[in-house]
Amino acid sequence: MKLIICKNYDEVSAAAAEIVADVMKANPACVLGLATGSTPVGMYKKLIEKNAAGEIDFSAVTTVNLDEYYPISPDNDQSYRYFMNENLFNHVNIDKARTFVPDGQASDPVAACEAYEETVAAVGAADIQVLGIGQNGHIGFNEPDTALEVKTHVTGLTESTIKANARFFASEADVPTKALTMGIGTILGAKKIIILANGAAKHDAVSKMLAGKLDTSCPASMLNLHRDVVVVCDEMAYNG
Ligand code: F6R
Repeated sequence: MKLIICKNYDEVSAAAAEIVADVMKANPACVLGLATGSTPVGMYKKLIEKNAAGEIDFSAVTTVNLDEYYPISPDNDQSYRYFMNENLFNHVNIDKARTFVPDGQASDPVAACEAYEETVAAVGAADIQVLGIGQNGHIGFNEPDTALEVKTHVTGLTESTIKANARFFASEADVPTKALTMGIGTILGAKKIIILANGAAKHDAVSKMLAGKLDTSCPASMLNLHRDVVVVCDEMAYNG
């Protein structure tokens, strides 16, 4: 794993945007694997600026998002589809028909996961997958467990993730208890991975990931299996 330690959140966002922009410049028809959550918002802002300045072009880009709550409608302002539209897609010259997010309102969620795994395979390996990390080490909605799923699947959210995500909802009771998420194998299928972390609350998870062991109690540690991972974190996440 390559490690980039930044002074603060703004530097994390700038460094991450630079890495994604480089991938886009090298291949204008690239596939971007994207994440939601608070961490990548600053990076998306910088990508929007670069797009407005003509530095990067989204017109031929395809995106595949990591996950989506279940059940949730794309119009719900807490859905990850809504988040992506608000934080990136509505502000850049991307063709939304080429932006993929798991279907949070599918009548058959298991079939929706199978279909999403096929979509990810059909668009081709992501040139870069952007990840955040949960306080408990989750990536996507792959929560700590004795065994981790390989492919896109339906999963229950842990109590700690429901609590962490309650800040985005009217109340904790409003947080959906399930999600559709890429599996660890789906994520590792990307050609390059960057994982962003800021703040002391992420220190334990970042330390476990950087310990270099495969530990299912920290799903992010599975990234040690990949040969091109860049960890971009601030000093608080690194030092605690
Ligand atoms: C989001 C996702 C999650 C978040 C993680 C960190 O698509 O898959 O794994 O990356 O929960 O969230 P924030 O950035 O809000 O701390």
